[in-house]
Amino acid sequence: MKTIKLGLIGAGGISQAHCRTIASIDGAEFIAVSELVVANLERTKERWGIENTFTDYNEMLKMDELDAVFVCTPTGVHAPPTVAALKAGKHVLCEKPMEATLDAATEMVRTAHETGKILMVALKLRYSPQVIKAKAIVDAGTLGDIYYAETVADRRRGNPGGSFIRKATAGLGASADIGVYALDTALHLMGHPKPIAVSGITSNYLSLHNTWNPVLKETEVEDFGVGWVLFDNGARLVFKTCWCMNMDSLGGTFFLGTKAGLRIGIGEVRGPQDGVRVYGDKDGEFHDETFTDFESVDVFLAEDTAFIEAVREGKPSPIDPDGMLLTNVIIQGVIDSSEAGGREVEVTVPTF
Ligand SMILES: NC(=O)c1ccc[n+]([C@@H]2O[C@H](COP(=O)([O-])OP(=O)(O)OC[C@H]3O[C@@H](n4cnc5c(N)ncnc54)[C@H](O)[C@@H]3O)[C@@H](O)[C@H]2O)c1
Repeated sequence: MKTIKLGLIGAGGISQAHCRTIASIDGAEFIAVSELVVANLERTKERWGIENTFTDYNEMLKMDELDAVFVCTPTGVHAPPTVAALKAGKHVLCEKPMEATLDAATEMVRTAHETGKILMVALKLRYSPQVIKAKAIVDAGTLGDIYYAETVADRRRGNPGGSFIRKATAGLGASADIGVYALDTALHLMGHPKPIAVSGITSNYLSLHNTWNPVLKETEVEDFGVGWVLFDNGARLVFKTCWCMNMDSLGGTFFLGTKAGLRIGIGEVRGPQDGVRVYGDKDGEFHDETFTDFESVDVFLAEDTAFIEAVREGKPSPIDPDGMLLTNVIIQGVIDSSEAGGREVEVTVPTF
């Protein structure tokens, strides 16, 4: 079996989870790492025994033996290394979300199409047993047509600080950081309908005026975002996300279908303990089913294994980048609408 040789761009927090995972996968290894902060570079090199180190990823991408790279830079810095890597003939696994702006994300997907290389966004929730079960229920037709959904990613006190709160690095806040999980799950279960209009609002009031951590008063991005999304098939989606709130929950994630409804715990407040619940009727009586007995899965292992297999076997991206791009279309719609005072904005899905 050929060993898939990998390069890492960005050796901060999350890259360590990928290094740990790749170390446990037969037939894949990191042979190079690129990082601006020398302490992070040296630590990652020593910890994982990575031979080649670079401070400029363009130099690393000249290594012919690299099959693929993992992009683990902050969200607002995903596009430049991803585009450069694809153009250098490398497959890319890029951390979530795709990027901060729709324009940057579009450039990434366009380059993937032009180069024919794999672009996978690391959406680990796709590999959670709850999401896999819910998708199977929806695909079996149990819900009928989904005409309305609400999707939520919320934390009561969970502004991550660091590179996540700066416009120059993260670009966006909660909507992109955790909101992308909620949006992607909703779109995945709804079959990726095409969004055509969005209205939304965002705020960072609570972080700026918080009483629990002075550092978070420097938050430059939104810590709260909500959107009302209209799709071309007539379905509607409410999207709610926050890093902090004076409330116990923004509500959960649920889908209303013409035959049945489904609730799923994908968040941190209403999480896996909520399992998957289907609400329907049989012979005129309520007929509900609850699935909570899920085995624990290492989602990083599942995600990285899927990527390595796709690279080795020449398969398409395990997570279709065109579908992922819809999360950027909607998030951009929320930001643009918020800047327009919450008024509805039309959104356009890029075509390639
Ligand atoms: N999948 C998950 O569970 C998960 C969890 C946390 C973060 N993330 C995502 O991972 C990304 C990184 O988050 P993090 O927590 O690791 O951030 P981080 O700030 O800890 O690490 C980012 C690293 O990238 C480096 N970097 C920045 N520009 C660079 C460049 N041009 N070349 C090389 N290195 C560069 C920084 O110096 C830093 O070490 C974000 O997009 C975030 O949304 C995903």
